[in-house]
Amino acid sequence: MRIENTFGIDARCRELITYDSEQTLREALTRIRNQYPGLPVLHIGCGSNLLFLGDYPGIVLKSEIKGIAIKHETADEILVEVGAGEICDDFIAQAIRRGWYGMENLSLIPGQIGAAAVQNIGAYGVEACDVIEEVKGISLTDSTEHSWKCADCKYGYRQSIFKEELWGKYAITRVTFHLSKHFVPKLQYGGLIKTVEQTGLTENSLTAMQLRQIIIDIRRAKLPDPAVQGNAGSFFKNPIVSQQNVEQLLSEHPTMPNFPTEEKGKVKLAAGWLIEQAGWKGKSLGPAAVHDRQALVIVNKGGATGKDIQRLCEAIRSDVADKFGIELEPEVNFI
Ligand code: EPU
Repeated sequence: MRIENTFGIDARCRELITYDSEQTLREALTRIRNQYPGLPVLHIGCGSNLLFLGDYPGIVLKSEIKGIAIKHETADEILVEVGAGEICDDFIAQAIRRGWYGMENLSLIPGQIGAAAVQNIGAYGVEACDVIEEVKGISLTDSTEHSWKCADCKYGYRQSIFKEELWGKYAITRVTFHLSKHFVPKLQYGGLIKTVEQTGLTENSLTAMQLRQIIIDIRRAKLPDPAVQGNAGSFFKNPIVSQQNVEQLLSEHPTMPNFPTEEKGKVKLAAGWLIEQAGWKGKSLGPAAVHDRQALVIVNKGGATGKDIQRLCEAIRSDVADKFGIELEPEVNFI
């Protein structure tokens, strides 16, 4: 069976199983253990952050757990539990309509709610972990249920316990978000405030729906639509390096963008800028190419295999390492 992935790569698995509740997931896991003992199991979302280097030799699981349930609310805030199989952007749109705020800047990020909690998706100064209260999951090995408070999820930049020590061990079933009933726009990222002003709005007059639309417009202008051209959003993480390293680089490249991080003495660089300076923006290697409007995105020009994409990834990494002495780390998970 073909495995869904936004890179548009043809990859197959032994069986693809979808489930729509904790109960049907447990039944599926029992059947897998009986019918396919020893075969590996991979849990995917919408495949928007995966690169298949070949066919997957085991079983692929996908959540269709839906539902949005209010757990607790006051005049000021709300705890809302969302099924892992809900589409993240649909939930964000609904939350704004219902007057629950905090996720506007994450608008239009592809993928499901469960994957958002695994990947700690982020954009324009907001990360999923800023609004996650609790994550629930079921063990793929013994079907027991577990829950993790946000602090237990070890969230970092595109990082979580589910991508590290718990990778491949749990299916995320539901995520509880802590949202506010008062809209406070977060406009500190890059040129966001300028873009707001260019549209004739001000920080005070801006509504959450208008901010969502601005974010959607920025993303559409820069990022290729996977339905038109296969891609997985940012292919690499923005590297985090020491202040000392940055100062040395700035002496040679004074215009290099760099951003403070929460960790003292650590600075985030823009991988897109490094890749562009290394000459790769808009360039192809076989059927894989670097997007011409955002060098952090690798696209499938048509018919690429995972290995074609990997070859381009390695060529970029090698040139960026030669030019800047920086090792780029993929954000996309290689399978
Ligand atoms: N830049 C270039 N050339 C490029 C691309 C970027 O010089 O081709 C420079 C820009 O001029 C800017 C800086 O790099 O100074 C940052 O660019 P941008 O604001 O476009 O964001 P990014 O760092 O490239 C990150 C996330 C995106 C997220 C945006 C906005 C990562 C790996 N990527 O990209 O997330 O949408 O910020 O918050 O952190 C994703 O994870 O899939 C993703 C799209």
